[in-house]
Amino acid sequence: MGDFELSKKLDHVAFIMDGNGRWAKARGLARYFGHREACLRLREIFDTCLEFHIPFASYFAFSTENWNRPEDEIDHLMDYLEEFFRRDLPYIKDRGGRILISGDLGRIREKTRKVCMEAVEMTKGNRVHTMNICLNYGGRDEIVRAAKAFAEEVKEGSKETSDLTERLFARYLYNPDVPDIDLLIRTSGEERISNFMLYRLAYSELVFTKTMWPDFRRDAFIECLREFDSRHRRYGGLKDE
Ligand code: IPE
Ligand code: IPE
Ligand code: MG
Repeated sequence: MGDFELSKKLDHVAFIMDGNGRWAKARGLARYFGHREACLRLREIFDTCLEFHIPFASYFAFSTENWNRPEDEIDHLMDYLEEFFRRDLPYIKDRGGRILISGDLGRIREKTRKVCMEAVEMTKGNRVHTMNICLNYGGRDEIVRAAKAFAEEVKEGSKETSDLTERLFARYLYNPDVPDIDLLIRTSGEERISNFMLYRLAYSELVFTKTMWPDFRRDAFIECLREFDSRHRRYGGLKDE
């Protein structure tokens, strides 16, 4: 158990799991070994979320832009994702973990899509902690889809344009019950959003760490939690939260 407790409310932590390729390269390995190692980290991060009573965690696993990578790397990444579910899903499920997927699974190969959908189905009753896996996910893509879905309802007559509020708009996102992100962690030293959850990131605290994702373990996560806990969240006002 850690020597530290969060004093701030943290409902949703999001991870841009970056640096897998560089981690592997530094060891003289092919890039995909980094993705394999990356998937092995998820259980420990899940455990740490439980330890700190964080109800939601989102993981950027594959972006709409990652199709620009070599097919071989993409295939390996999907293999490791399937392996992760096979290996770790029973553990997650037994501890009250729920899996959600955000992103367009339509373009994901059938085997991976099936494993993902089964994980969602098998854990749908759980509420202790939700792992939202973002796969073929793009922040702009999600917003455009939401806008189209709302426009369709206006066209059908079940909604009026004037009904639209920020809160209502969020109901058209991939998983409406995922709350706003309190803390975004990006590993590997890059300091950008790379089209991650744009709508949910509006008032998130951003923490960038130089640690590569395959080296990101409980201690590194707790370090980020400490940083988050020391921030002053004001939401445009003058009082700290
Ligand atoms: C993040 O690691 C995982 C994905 C984008 C799928 P990278 O593969 O981007 O690793 P680097 O950034 O090249 O080191
Ligand atoms: C973001 O990482 C996407 C994921 C972690 C899945 P990238 O490595 O693809 O992002 P850029 O290209 O460095 O911005
Ligand atoms: Mg990268």
